[in-house]
Amino acid sequence: MDFELTEEQRMIRDLARDFATEVLAPQAAHFDETEEYPQENLKKMGELGLMALTIPQEYGGIGADTVGYVLALEEICKADAAVGTVMSVQNSLVGHGLVKWGTPQQKEKYLRPAATFQKIGAYALSEPQAGSDAANQRTMAVKKDDHYLVNGAKNFITNGGVADFLILFVRTDPQAGHKGISCLVFDTDTPGFTAGKPERKLGIRASNTAALSFENCEVPVENLLGQEGEGFKIAMQVLDAGRIGIAAQALGIAQAAYEASLKFAKEREQFGVPIAQHQAVQFLIADMATRIQAAQLLTLRAALLKDKGEPHTEAASMAKLYASETAMQVTTNAIQVHGGYGYMKDYPVERYFRDAKITEIYEGTSQIQRIVIANQELQMQ
Ligand code: CAA
Repeated sequence: MDFELTEEQRMIRDLARDFATEVLAPQAAHFDETEEYPQENLKKMGELGLMALTIPQEYGGIGADTVGYVLALEEICKADAAVGTVMSVQNSLVGHGLVKWGTPQQKEKYLRPAATFQKIGAYALSEPQAGSDAANQRTMAVKKDDHYLVNGAKNFITNGGVADFLILFVRTDPQAGHKGISCLVFDTDTPGFTAGKPERKLGIRASNTAALSFENCEVPVENLLGQEGEGFKIAMQVLDAGRIGIAAQALGIAQAAYEASLKFAKEREQFGVPIAQHQAVQFLIADMATRIQAAQLLTLRAALLKDKGEPHTEAASMAKLYASETAMQVTTNAIQVHGGYGYMKDYPVERYFRDAKITEIYEGTSQIQRIVIANQELQMQ
C-alpha cells in the first residue's frame, strides 16, 4: 500500500491543522467546561469546506478522498474532539448516505445545504432498546397515501437537538426483521417531532446529544432514502464509512495526549532530572508512540480500501477497534506521565481521557467491532 500523500491530501490536512491550531485549540477547554454548542466555529468550518470533504463538488462539497478526510478529521480532533464529532456525523453519517442513496431532489434539498453547514444533519438509528442490536427498530412508519406516519423514539442522537433534518431509520414492516427497516430523510420542523434537552456527558461535552420523539409525524413518500426494506443495509454501509472517521477521531485525541506527555516529560524534573530521562517514563512513551503508529496505519488502510471501492467493512472495524482502544490507553498513560497534574483541569490530558472513552462506544462498541471482524474472518474460510 502506498501511503505517500498527494498534494491535495496534504493541502486538506494543512487547512484543517491551521484552523484547529489557531481557532479550535485555544477555545476547546472553554466549550468543554460550559457545554456550549460551538456554533460559530462549526459555521466557519462549513465555510472552509470541512463539513463536506468527501461530498462531490457538484453539490457544494470538496470532492476529496477518504484519506484526505481522515487526515483532516484527525487534526480537528487533536484540538477539539467535540467539534470532530459534529464534523464526522455531517461528513460521513449524513453526507455519505445522501451521496450514495439520495435522489437528485434529496441531494438538492438536503445535501447541498449540508455541505456548507447551512443545514445540520443527524443520523437517527439508536433507540432505547436498539443500541448494539440495531435491527431491533421499533419506530414505526406506516404508509398512508402520499406520506408515512411516523411514531416512536430515538436515543443518544448526536446533533439531535440542533439538526434541521435526520437520516431516520424506521420500521415499515413489523414482520420482516431487518428487511422491514427503511430510511427516511426527516425534516425536524415536522409537527409532532420533539427533541429532548441536551444530554450531560462525560466527554465531547460541547457536542449536542439528545433523545428524539415522533408523534404522528407526516413524512412525504419522496423522502424515502433508497428502497423500502433497504434501511438496515444503508445503516450498516454508512457505519462502515463512519467507523473509519471514528478511528481518525480516536487517533487525533491520542496524538494530542501523546504530544502533551512528551512536552511535560521533558520539562518536569524529579530526582534531579527531567522525568523523560527515567526509564519508567520512557517505556510509557514508547508504548504510546508504537500504538499510535499502528492505529494510523490501520486507519489509512481502511480509508485507502474505501477509496479504491474495495470491501472495507472489516478494515473499518479493525481501525476503529484498535484506534479507540489506543486512545483510551494513551490518554490513561498521558495522565500517568503527568502524575497529579494530569488529574487536574489545568492540563488538557484529563479532557483527552474523558473524550477518548466515547470512541470505544459510539458507531458500535469495541465488542460489536470484534463481532464484525470475527464474522468477516470466519466467512473467508
Ligand atoms: N454492509 C452491508 N450489509 C450488511 C453489513 C454491512 N456492513 N452488515 C450486515 N449487513 C447485512 C447482512 O449481510 C444481512 O443481510 P442478509 O440478511 O441479506 O444476508 C443483514 O445485514 C443482517 O446482518 P446480521 O445478521 O449480521 O445483523 P445483526 O442484527 O446480527 O447485526 C451488527 C449486526 C453488526 C451487530 C449490527 O447490528 C451493528 O453494527 N450494531 C451496532 C450498531 C451501531 O453501530 N450503532 C451506532 C449508532 S450510530 C452512532 O453512534 C452515531 C453517532 O451518534 C455519532
